[in-house]
Parts: sequence; C-alpha cells; structure tokens
Amino acid sequence: MSVTEAWTLQFGGSEPAREGLREALCTLGNGYLATRGALPERDAGGPYYPGTYAAGCYNRMRDSTAGGTVENESLVNLPNWLPLTFRADHGPWLGQAGVELLDQRHELDLLRGVLTRRLRVRDGDGRVTAVTQWRFVHQRHEHVCGLQVAFTPESWSGTLTVRSEVDATTSNRGVARYQGLAGQHLELLDAGPAGTDTVLCVVQTNQSHIRVAEAARTRVLRRGRAVDAGRRVYREPGRIGHELEIDVSAGEQVTVEKLVTVHTSRDNAISDPADEAVQRSRWLAGFDELLDEHVLAWRHLWRRFRISMQGEESRVLPTVRLHLFHLLQTVSENSVDADVGIPARGLHGEAYRGHVLWDELFVFPILNLRMPLLSRALLRYRYRRLPWARAAARAAGHSGAMYPWQSGSDGREESQRLHLNPLSGRWVKDSTRLQRHVGLAVAYNVWQYYQVAGDLEFLNHYGAEMILEIARFFAGLADYDDDRDRYVIRGVMGPDEFHTGYPHSDEEGIDNNAYTNVLTAWVMLRALDVLDLLSADRRAALVETLGITPGEPQRWADISRRMYVPIRPDGIIDQFDGYADLAELDWNAYRDRFGDIRRLDRILESQGDSPNRYKASKQADVLMLFYLLSADELRMLIDRLGYSLPRDAISKNIEYYLSRTAHGSTLSAVVHAWVLARNHRAQALRYFVEALDTDVADIQGGTTAEGIHLAAMAGSVDILQRCFAGVETRDDTLVLNPYWPPHLGALELDIRYRAHPLTLRITGDAVQVEAGPSRQPPIQLSCRGETVLLAPGEVVEFPVPQRGRAADGE
Ligand code: BGC
Repeated sequence: MSVTEAWTLQFGGSEPAREGLREALCTLGNGYLATRGALPERDAGGPYYPGTYAAGCYNRMRDSTAGGTVENESLVNLPNWLPLTFRADHGPWLGQAGVELLDQRHELDLLRGVLTRRLRVRDGDGRVTAVTQWRFVHQRHEHVCGLQVAFTPESWSGTLTVRSEVDATTSNRGVARYQGLAGQHLELLDAGPAGTDTVLCVVQTNQSHIRVAEAARTRVLRRGRAVDAGRRVYREPGRIGHELEIDVSAGEQVTVEKLVTVHTSRDNAISDPADEAVQRSRWLAGFDELLDEHVLAWRHLWRRFRISMQGEESRVLPTVRLHLFHLLQTVSENSVDADVGIPARGLHGEAYRGHVLWDELFVFPILNLRMPLLSRALLRYRYRRLPWARAAARAAGHSGAMYPWQSGSDGREESQRLHLNPLSGRWVKDSTRLQRHVGLAVAYNVWQYYQVAGDLEFLNHYGAEMILEIARFFAGLADYDDDRDRYVIRGVMGPDEFHTGYPHSDEEGIDNNAYTNVLTAWVMLRALDVLDLLSADRRAALVETLGITPGEPQRWADISRRMYVPIRPDGIIDQFDGYADLAELDWNAYRDRFGDIRRLDRILESQGDSPNRYKASKQADVLMLFYLLSADELRMLIDRLGYSLPRDAISKNIEYYLSRTAHGSTLSAVVHAWVLARNHRAQALRYFVEALDTDVADIQGGTTAEGIHLAAMAGSVDILQRCFAGVETRDDTLVLNPYWPPHLGALELDIRYRAHPLTLRITGDAVQVEAGPSRQPPIQLSCRGETVLLAPGEVVEFPVPQRGRAADGE
C-alpha cells in the first residue's frame, strides 16, 4: 500500500491478511450510505467482508451469553449491491476455484471519489481477461451507487457471461469479538425483476422494521453505447440478479455498468422505498454522466476543505487528505436532513456497532470551520434525543439531561454491560457507560459551534436547551461535601477507560475525575452565558418550559466557584481522588513481556489483575483539559475555583501522564500531539505522525478492518488547524496562536468563520489571513495580544516570533 501519490491510495497485488484493512480504507460513502471496498466477486468469508451501511439504520437484537443476557443495537449491514462476476466462454467464474489472478491493483482516487481496480485473470484453459472496475457512491445523488466494469478478452473469443446481483443474505459479522452474538438483522420481503434491465430487492430489519430497497440496473455497452445482450433473471435464495451473455472477440473491450439506487423507509420525501428505488433507477443517466456529477460534487467539497503544505512536511498531505476524505464520506451535506450522528468508526465497519460516542468532539472543529450547516444538523441529532437523556437523568435521580455514552437510533444508552476480552475469552463487566463526561462534550460542541458560526437562532431554539439541561444534570450530579466545603462528583468514569473503579471495591466508578469536575465548572459558566445571550422572549419561554427556578443559576454560579479538583501541591492534577495511592506499573517489564501493551487492560485482566490497581491510563484524561481549553481559559477556571497552578503545571502534567499512558485509544496520539506542541514540538510531531498513521498503518493491529477511527482521522487534521496553526474561536474573536515549526515550510488552510471565507497562510515567522468576498460585517481577529478588524477582501499579517525554542528539542 502507498499514499505517496498526492491524491491516491494504492494497493498492489493481493494480500489476504490485509484485505480487511484495504476494504475499510477503500470504503466509498457519501454521508447517507457507505460501502466497503470489497471485491465484487466475493461474498463474506475468509478475509473478505463486504459491508454496506446506511447512516442511522440500526436494529436491536438480544443474546444470552455466559455472563447473562445482552441486548445490542447495531448499524445494519445492508444487502450487498456489489456482486458482479464473469466467466470466459463457460469456464469457471471469477472468485471461484480455477481462475488465477495474474495481477491486480487498487487505486482510490481521493480527488474524484472513485475506486479503480485493475486485474488480469487466467482460467484453467488459459483464457486471459483484463478487467477494470470503477466504482462510486454518489456524492451528490446520495441514493445512487455505480460499478462499471470493462472486460477485454486478451486471448480468447466467445461468450462472456456476466452475473450482476444484489445479495440480501448479508448479516453483521464483521467483528470477530461479536461473532458469538446475533447478527441476522434482515428479513427478505421481495426479490425480483423490476423492468427489463433492473432487479429489485427489498428487506426489512427485524426489530426496527426499517425497510430497505435496492434496485440494480445492469446494462451492456460497446464503444459507449448500450447494446442488447442475452439476459436472464438469476435467482438464488436471498439473491436476485441478471445473467448476461455477450459475444466478444479477442482484443475487443465490452463494458457492463451496474447502477444501484438505495432507499430506506427512513428517507424523507418518499412514499415507499421500493417504489422510490425503482422509479429513481428509471431516471438514471449512464455511469459516465453520473460520474461527472459525482466528481464535480467532490471538487466543490475539496474547495471547502482545502489544506495545502509546502516544504518538508508536505509528505503528510496525502494522509491528511485521506482523513478528510473518509470524514466527508461519513458525514456530508447528505447527512443534513438525515437525523444522524457521527459514528466513531465511520460507516466503514461494525466496531462499536456504528454507535455515536464522544468522538464527535474531535470532529466538530473541522466541520465547524468549513461546513457549519453540517455541524448544526449533527448537533440536532443530539437535540432530538433530549427526551431519552432527560429520562435517563430522572432514572438516575437527577433533573436535566444525561446523554448516553453510546448512542444509536433513539438516544438510549447503548453501551454494553458485558464485553468479551479476546485474550482471556471471558465476558467482563463493562462500566464505560459511567462516562458521564459525554454530556459535557455535547455542551462543548454546541458552544463551539455557536462561537464559530455565531448562530443565535440555533442557540435560541436548540443549543441553549441542551446546554441548560446538561448543566442542570451536572449540577445535580455534584454533591456538596461539607468537609471540603466544595462540590464533588462521585461514581463516574473519566475518558481514561482503564479506571472503572477502585481496587478491591465492587462498586463501579471513581470519584472526582478532574476532567469531569473542571468541565462541570465550565458548563456551569456556559449555562449562565447562554441565559444572558438568549433573546428576552426565548429566555422567558425556556425558563418557563424547563421550570428553571431562581435558585438554579445561583447554584450553577456557586459550583463554578466551589467545584473540587484534586490538585497536588506541586501542581500535578490527580486524574481522580485516590489516583496518587495507586501502584506504579513496571512499564518496561510489561513491554518486555508482551511487546505491544496498548491494551494493557486486556493483558491485566487475562492475568487475573486489573488496571484499577495502577497509575496506568489508556488515553489522555487530565491532559484532555489542555486539549479542550486554552491555557488562558483553564487558568481562568482554576483561579475562579480558588486554586492555583504553578506556571510549569502544564508541562509537569504532560510529563507525568505521558509516562503513565498506554495509548490504548487512537485518540491518545491526537491529544498528546496537541498538548506537546506548546513545549516539545519534536515530540508533538512524533504523535502527529502517529495520529496520521492510525489507520493507514493500522497501528492498533487489526482494528481498522472493523472501521476507520474517525476521531483520530479528524483529530489529526485538527492538529494542523488548532494546534500548529493555533486557530481558536472564543469571545466572538478568531484567535490565532500558531506554533508552526519554521523548517516545515508553509501551511495554508481555507476556513469559514462567521460566514467569511478565509485563507490562513502560516509560516514559521508569520501568519497571514486573507478574507474572501462576503456581505458580513468585519470580524475580530487576534494574534498574540494584537487585535484587529478584518473586512471582506482585506489581508492582514501578524509576525509570529518563535518562542521557547530551547524546549523544542529542534
Ligand atoms: C476510547 C473512547 C472512544 C472509543 C471510540 C475507545 O477506545 O477509549 O474514548 O470513544 O474508543 O472511538
């Protein structure tokens, strides 16, 4: 595999062991649906796993396991629209025994959103055929997918038989750990012809009763013109298709195009998905025309998401583009009306069952500054799920809204109660739902969106209600502790998933997770801000509707001053109460013994031990505070709480936690690159490169095949934007505080801030901002203490003297 070409990702040959990785990385999608880059002639089995997922299309199933009953909601693997195979002159079919692969090359064109596969095959009788397949999942017409295949018989003439099908026998079995659990989500409702060249397949999920229809139109073309071919309907249980017989002569190319329309009963503006899929397939132009429109849509997207780099580090650019590409395939303008969230593993595989976790926190910074319309839509996914979040808060004895750690179709908690440790084979209690901080991330995302877009309408109608309800929940979760004369939060989990409780205690959760407590103080202030910002009528209405009593804002203000944070006298912030008493882990001994210890939790459990006993974190927890809050904001919060942090507290904490972190989550590298950038740039670059490698190098050893790590992908791009370019949005100001190493040349980013298109040019010693055309009032820009107004068409440049080079290790 290589990503050395500026806009392509290439895979040569055939490597069964890496096929799952290739399929995930070659996934094509458009925010409505995505299809893994699986081979059209292969069904699931062995290294092959075709998967097609429509955003938001979930189904729930139950199982009995050794540890009890488990119920899981999963993003459903829909009927596979890819199947297309052929045989030369009645020989064996491609994909079956007797056909030898002579060579093969896959190329994912990021610029155009096209996956091309070139192969040459020879059957047992020596017939050699060259095949090229082009595939898209249409970025503009989100219900349309296309596969075009050109066949050139090199050494034979005779009958080319092509079989093109839709396969509804698919199930969810893309993740080995879940394979003991139910995965058969689909019932077949209908499969048959729908016109001369089209077949229709209709299925229904067996619990959520979502109907899904796929209509596949297959045509034969010679020299670009549709021609007749022998055709018969081909059926097998759960599959429907056409078999085409075409006379071919050696050296002559013939093309087969398969265009598929996909609709579900979740779609807007349709009567019935089957009717719609058939109707739309009748309206379709040919593959080439559709391809042009698709490429144009991608061109427009790339304009919005332009990032360019010159100099040494520009070699990372192809991976940066790959990450943006997969982000825009998971969520895009096609997601805007779809009531969907941001699944942690994209629409690229089945890990985390397609659930939406706090990972969106790492994605919003990219979207906010480029496609705020999409951010708004994705935040409404959370807004619509307020009723479940309120019910969850009530059930936990609180008011307000308690968002679930894992969210699916309706917003109930989807986290598993038991999970399988593949190392020990044991089902282990899963306490991750205690990560209440997910609600703080929702509030943070709402606030950031408002900061970037200045969208008061959104705040009035949706955002304020979410922030207020989240603040209320955390105000309830916080108990006043007389002895400390401070508020405390007990029995939660922080972002670090290794610590689920105290050693030797059966109770789940830890007390006073610093990250949760500090952000609770933060959200209290935002709730107060929001009440100030709302229009008078909306504030009155919301206060009445939510029944906010005069005492509540007082309590919020009080909590923002009296929240407890476990800070040691030397400035180390304890991850939670009692962290300091845990044992130190002998990291070297574990590394020597196990090599890769990222999943130390699994290793320890398999040894009858537990990470709860050690000062060992899966991922950044305390350091997340430095990631989310600028040094100024954090200092302000800590001062307000009546604590003081020594000047070197940030670097001390970074050093302390970095040496106690296993990086078992791909988010870890993103956060560490970011926090290190301030003081240790050389190290920051190392983590940046690691974040870039997350999926292309599959650094977690096999997990990418189960879906990309979307937060690490978006987060790695955000490192460029928020960390190296130093873009922050607060107090109605676009703040630029770049830390771009001079030897890396120049970085250019196009962003949108308050509806102004801006180009940022960052070099080691200056940052230039150019405002494009807009009718909006000037915006406030600030760089290292200098604040200016920038109007459309203007350019401003700030010199950026390099600081702290001694600590850089450069
Ligand atoms: C991390 C979580 C993250 C999840 C999904 C886990 O490994 O610990 O923070 O939300 O992966 O990406």
